[in-house]
Amino acid sequence: MHPSEPVLRGSGETPTSPSLLANPLDFISEDHLRERQICTVIDGLATADALNRRSATAVLRFLNEELSVHLRDEAEDLFPLLARRCTQEDAIEGVIDRIRADQDAAMRLLPQVRAMLAGCLDSGVNLTAEERAVLSRFAGHVRRHLVAENAILLPIARARLTRADLRTLSEHMRRRRGLPDLAETTDAE
Ligand SMILES: [Fe+2]
Repeated sequence: MHPSEPVLRGSGETPTSPSLLANPLDFISEDHLRERQICTVIDGLATADALNRRSATAVLRFLNEELSVHLRDEAEDLFPLLARRCTQEDAIEGVIDRIRADQDAAMRLLPQVRAMLAGCLDSGVNLTAEERAVLSRFAGHVRRHLVAENAILLPIARARLTRADLRTLSEHMRRRRGLPDLAETTDAE
């Protein structure tokens, strides 16, 4: 046991803590852990013999409350900042295009995934084989996006984004979640 060791990474079992928003790239990285954990839950739903209502509810809640906000953080702020700061050698545009393609594919499946899970929860009937296949495809796209982002985009972002960029990113992510700007909370004097 190492009681003095700081807890660096969450388990992904709960929504990412807003306290990480001061370090927006850490927040996004933590969101990816959360997505990975949810993908595992989705895989479980796609293969289980009986509907696990708790799992279905957890996934539905994540889709409704967390995923769209995360994708907007990236599409509206992180990707444009990276495009502005990166050099030709970073070859970032092709990477971003591939990530966007997976995000778009996941977003196209999202209404169907939501409706399937809500329908099963309402009726108590388990998913059909076709619905399970849709769930697996959806999890595949989500996983691919986060793997590419963790391996390529986030390390480049940590190297290239300026302090001002990170401040802007943090502010926009706070606003997107209805939280006041950090400046407003520290400008008490
Ligand atoms: Fe992401």
